[in-house]
Amino acid sequence: MAKGLMITGMSSSVLALLLVLAASGIGTASAQAAGLKKGFYKKSCPQAEDIVQKVVWRHVAGNRELAAKFLRMFFHDCFVRGCDASVLLDSPTNTAEKNAVPNQSLAGFNVIDEVKAALEQACPGVVSCADIVALAARDSVSFQYKRNLWEVETGRRDGTVSSAQQALANIPAPSSTFDILLANFSRKGLGLQDLVVLSGGHTIGVGHCNLFSSRLFNFTGKNNPSDIDPSLNPSYAKFLQGQCRLNLQNPNDNTTVVPMDPGSSLSFDNHYFVNLKAHQGMFTSDATLLTNGRAANIVDKLQDPGVFFDAFKNSIKRMGQIEVLTGTNGQIRKKCSAVN
Ligand code: HEM
Ligand SMILES: *[C@@H]1O[C@H](CO)[C@@H](O)[C@H](O)[C@H]1NC(C)=O
Ligand SMILES: *[C@@H]1O[C@H](CO)[C@@H](O)[C@H](O)[C@H]1NC(C)=O
Ligand SMILES: *[C@@H]1O[C@H](CO)[C@@H](O)[C@H](O)[C@H]1NC(C)=O
Ligand SMILES: *[C@@H]1O[C@H](CO)[C@@H](O)[C@H](O)[C@H]1NC(C)=O
Repeated sequence: MAKGLMITGMSSSVLALLLVLAASGIGTASAQAAGLKKGFYKKSCPQAEDIVQKVVWRHVAGNRELAAKFLRMFFHDCFVRGCDASVLLDSPTNTAEKNAVPNQSLAGFNVIDEVKAALEQACPGVVSCADIVALAARDSVSFQYKRNLWEVETGRRDGTVSSAQQALANIPAPSSTFDILLANFSRKGLGLQDLVVLSGGHTIGVGHCNLFSSRLFNFTGKNNPSDIDPSLNPSYAKFLQGQCRLNLQNPNDNTTVVPMDPGSSLSFDNHYFVNLKAHQGMFTSDATLLTNGRAANIVDKLQDPGVFFDAFKNSIKRMGQIEVLTGTNGQIRKKCSAVN
C-alpha cells in the first residue's frame, strides 16, 4: 500500500517534471536564458535598478518621446546577436548596428551613457550595458504609470561585436508580410503570439513617411494619391497623406514623422490593437497581422487592456532572453559605446 502510494507520488512528480521540461523547451529563447534571473544584482550592486530608474525617469520626465526610443532600442538590440548591447557600440568605420539603414531614429544613447556612468561610480564593472538597455525600456515605458509594467530578468553580459550588415539581416522590414515576420520571429525563438503582442510596441512613437508611403501613393503603379493600399481604412489613409508631403516629385518623403497611434502616441496602452482592428495600422507589417486567422484572433483578444498588459509582460520577457550571454561569456563593458 505504502509502496503503491509512493509510486503514485513519484509518477506525478515525474509528470510534473516532464511538464516543466516540455514548457521550457517550447521556445528556444527560454533554453538560452539560463543564467538570467530577477534581481541578479541584489548582492553585487543592490542599488543598480534604482539608479537606472532614477536617471531614466529624470530624462523621460523632460522628454516623453524617449520611452519609444528605449523600447525600440531594446527590440533592435535583442534581434541582432541577442540582447548584448551590440546596438550601443560605436564604429570608427560606420559599420556598426547603429549605422545600418533600419537604425533610423534610434536615440537615447546619451541617457544610456549617463546611467552607465552612475552605475560605474556605485559599483564599478558590475552591471552590463545589455541589462541597462533592458531596464531602460521597462522604466521609460513605465514612467507614465509610476510603477513597473513588467519584470526584467537580469544577468546579461555584453557582446564585443556590432555589425550593420547583421542589423539589416535581422531587423524585420516594415514592408514584410505575415509569413515573413513569423519566420523572422521564430528564428529568434519567438512565436506567433509574441509577434502579435510585441507589435503592440507601436502604440508609442512615430514612423517616417517613406516607410509607409508606398501604401498611400502609387500602390499599384497608377502614380496618383487615389492609388491607396485597399487594406487601409480610407479616412486613415487620408490622414496619413495629409501628414506626409507626397507628390510625383517627392513620392518618398523621408523627413516627416507621423505618430503610430495618433491621439495617444505617448501613452503605452492597447490602442494599437484597437486601431489595427479598424485597419489603421501604419505599416504593411502591422496591417498584415489581420491576414492570418490565429493572429487576427489574438488581435481581438487584445482589445481588452488587461489582456494586453499581461500578454506584453510575457512576450517582452521572452524577447529579453534572446541569445543572451551569461556566466563568463562576453564582458561587462566599462563604457557602453566601446568594448573593453
Ligand atoms: C514586427 C516587426 C516590426 C517591424 C517591421 C517594425 C518596424 C518599425 C518601423 C519601420 C518603425 C519606424 C522607424 C522610423 O520611422 O523611425 C518602428 C518604430 C518603432 N517600433 Fe517597431 N517594428 C517591429 C517590431 C517592434 C517591436 C517588437 C517593438 C518593441 C516591442 C517595436 C517598437 C517600436 C517603437 C517603440 C517604435 C517608435 C520609435 C520612435 O518613436 O522613434 N517594434 N518600428
Ligand atoms: C544611422 O545611420 C546613418 C547612416 O549611416 C548615420 O548617418 C546615423 O548617424 C546613424 N544613426 C545613429 C543613431 O547612429
Ligand atoms: C525574414 O524571413 C524571410 C523568410 O524566411 C527571410 O528571407 C528574411 O531574410 C528574414 N529577414 C529578417 C530581417 O530576418
Ligand atoms: C510608380 O510605380 C511604378 C510601378 O511600380 C513605378 O514604375 C514608378 O516609378 C512609380 N512612380 C513613382 C513616382 O515613384
Ligand atoms: C532622403 O531622400 C533624399 C532624396 O531622395 C536623399 O538625398 C537623402 O539621402 C535621403 N535621406 C535619408 C536620411 O535617407
